[in-house]
Amino acid sequence: MIKENSNKIGIIGTGFYVPEKILTNFDLEKKLNTTDEWIKTRTGIEERRIADEKEAASDLAAKAGAKALKDADINPKEIDLLIIATHFPDHYFPSTACITQHKLGLENAVCFDLSAACSGSIYSLFVAESIMKNSNYNTAMIIGTEIFSRTVDWKDRNTCVLFGDGAGAIIIKKGQKGKNIISFDFGSDGSGSDLLKIPAGGSRLPATKKTIKQRQHYIKMEGRKVYKFATKRMVESVIKALNKVDLTRKDIDLLIPHQANLRILKAVAKKLHLPIKKIMINLEKYGNTSAASIPIALDEAITQGKIKKGDIVVLTAFGAGLTWGAIVICW
Ligand code: UT7
Repeated sequence: MIKENSNKIGIIGTGFYVPEKILTNFDLEKKLNTTDEWIKTRTGIEERRIADEKEAASDLAAKAGAKALKDADINPKEIDLLIIATHFPDHYFPSTACITQHKLGLENAVCFDLSAACSGSIYSLFVAESIMKNSNYNTAMIIGTEIFSRTVDWKDRNTCVLFGDGAGAIIIKKGQKGKNIISFDFGSDGSGSDLLKIPAGGSRLPATKKTIKQRQHYIKMEGRKVYKFATKRMVESVIKALNKVDLTRKDIDLLIPHQANLRILKAVAKKLHLPIKKIMINLEKYGNTSAASIPIALDEAITQGKIKKGDIVVLTAFGAGLTWGAIVICW
């Protein structure tokens, strides 16, 4: 039984935004050598959202952040820290966090971006919580925001069918009774950095006519290897995070995993001996929104009434880097 500790850091607001434009598997059938049947059976995805050409990562982030502020019912000036996780910022610099800060009027917030790919939002929660514990910062916002429609190669059926655009935000505050972050486990393994990456556009391969012609500015992925890594690491991380606070997989009321592939989520459920109803799944609507996927899924789980007071909720993710982790929340 988890004891309530009023000094703990807890969630006070969530919100998400997805662009209006929907791209279905049937739309993709018309452009690519693929089928709705293949995408649905191999991934569970039915449709994804596509940002308007005028929208950048900070625009999606600001819309999600505004909803989280409204949900938390706080003044934007109360936010002391803003961390944004994204694989495709507005610019190399300034940070998307600084641009979003201005849009949301978070004038007292210290702002920076964090790069951990699909694990980015839970890495950000972990970093925000750690900073708050060791500072006088009381309230933090983390946002995952992604515009994959501009970094996937629309000619590559192996990757473009998987991803979608969107943003999700979570606000945490010190001294909360309930919805507390009670444990975590994180890991990274750079030996797998070639498995999922955008090869060009950085200092390794700056943009040239050649890199553009070779389509090196788009996502490249070894899907099978990432799949195996994902199931193994998420399961290990969930168990480690639970064990740190003397809990086991049997205590999980709701698992909110990174929404990458339904087969991965089913494999994780099987390994953890969890019934599928204890796994939050919404990837059929949005595809893989990377750093945005967990905050979006958390907000939907709350609004759909899937979480009640005292529940053990576990967030878990994996992503490029390689990176992975789990956070345990006592609701
Ligand atoms: O957030 C982290 C992001 N990454 C991930 O989550 C990726 C994890 N990996 C996966 O989800 C799966 O590995 C995929 C969904 C990417 C692929 O599924 P798979 O069962 O591992 O398929 P595969 O890559 O082994 O490909 C099987 C076949 C291949 O054809 P051949 O070589 O057997 O003739 C592919 O060319 O399916 C083909 N294929 C497609 N066919 C129709 C690949 N993509 C498509 C497609 N439509 N969109």
